[in-house]
Amino acid sequence: MPKQPEPTARDDHTQRGRARQTHPRHPARAVCKTSPVNGGTPSNDHGAAAPQAPAEAVLGTAGVVRRTVSAAESTAVTRRWWDADADDYHAEHGEFLGVHDFVWCPEGLREQDAELLGDVRGARALEVGCGSAPCSQWLAEHGAWVVGLDVSAGMLRHAQAAAAATGTMVPLVQAGAERLPFAEMSFDVACSAFGAVPFVADSTAVMREVARVLRPGGRWVFAVNHPIRWIFPDDPGPAGLTAVQPYFDRTPYVEVDGSGRPTYVEHHRTLGDRVREIAAAGLVLTDLVEPEWPEGHQREWGQWSPLRGALFPGTAIFCCRRPE
Ligand SMILES: C[S@@+](CC[C@H](N)C(=O)[O-])C[C@H]1O[C@@H](n2cnc3c(N)ncnc32)[C@H](O)[C@@H]1O
Repeated sequence: MPKQPEPTARDDHTQRGRARQTHPRHPARAVCKTSPVNGGTPSNDHGAAAPQAPAEAVLGTAGVVRRTVSAAESTAVTRRWWDADADDYHAEHGEFLGVHDFVWCPEGLREQDAELLGDVRGARALEVGCGSAPCSQWLAEHGAWVVGLDVSAGMLRHAQAAAAATGTMVPLVQAGAERLPFAEMSFDVACSAFGAVPFVADSTAVMREVARVLRPGGRWVFAVNHPIRWIFPDDPGPAGLTAVQPYFDRTPYVEVDGSGRPTYVEHHRTLGDRVREIAAAGLVLTDLVEPEWPEGHQREWGQWSPLRGALFPGTAIFCCRRPE
């Protein structure tokens, strides 16, 4: 067996992705049990789960290693992470994301302005990795028939609470994006704002699955961390401007607990990898949007900041189409 690297001391600068917060919002709190969506989790008045401790404390995150993670392990770890982090994620970012707004990325690009999905009126739409499903809510309010899919019951609880608040009921499905529980050609359009794709070991499988459930001519638009960010420390400040990590090293970023058990996994693909995955699924890449940091936009999101946004892209949005 290959020797596993020792967990390194935890360092906030190593945190990755839209998921992460550079500094935990709360000091460690008592651990609350997380249960499946139908498991009778204690709820507040809005149907959302009772507040939990920050995910790192709940899961006992102790350090970072770089090692391969199987597809099954990756999905299980991701589900556990997002169940544990759901409350904190929405406490931190809920206001920015909105309840029925479609924000593609920390740069604040909105579907309302970008129109990457085209006219969605009457479209059958799938949101992959929907979280609390604000994008699905927006699509529904703009005339689409939407399904929101996510692997995490904790995140979907927030979607249920949001639907109760808006009165717009979006069907929600708990499943992994690697095996979509839908028939072929069920959707006219599919989208994902940082959902699933950075967290799966086999993102080619996600591309294949989305291609399968799209009708010919259907669109698939997904936003992920811009691959160039991989080479820098996840630091919004000056320390995040120096390359320290090889772009071509695809070994996953893995946070582990004290016994070396993964608590969080993120997978890197180069730009070329993404293009090849899209092509291998039989899809055509029609655009690659690299949202620029808007003037006057001051909000930091983990490693996204005005300082870094002025210099290089933080988000890549791949616009694809299934050929007719
Ligand atoms: C960074 S959050 C993004 C949520 C939402 N799209 C947003 O913009 O806030 C990532 C989401 O992807 C979901 N996810 C991760 N891996 C997944 C998978 N394999 N299948 C489905 N959903 C997944 C997580 O549970 C989480 O809700």
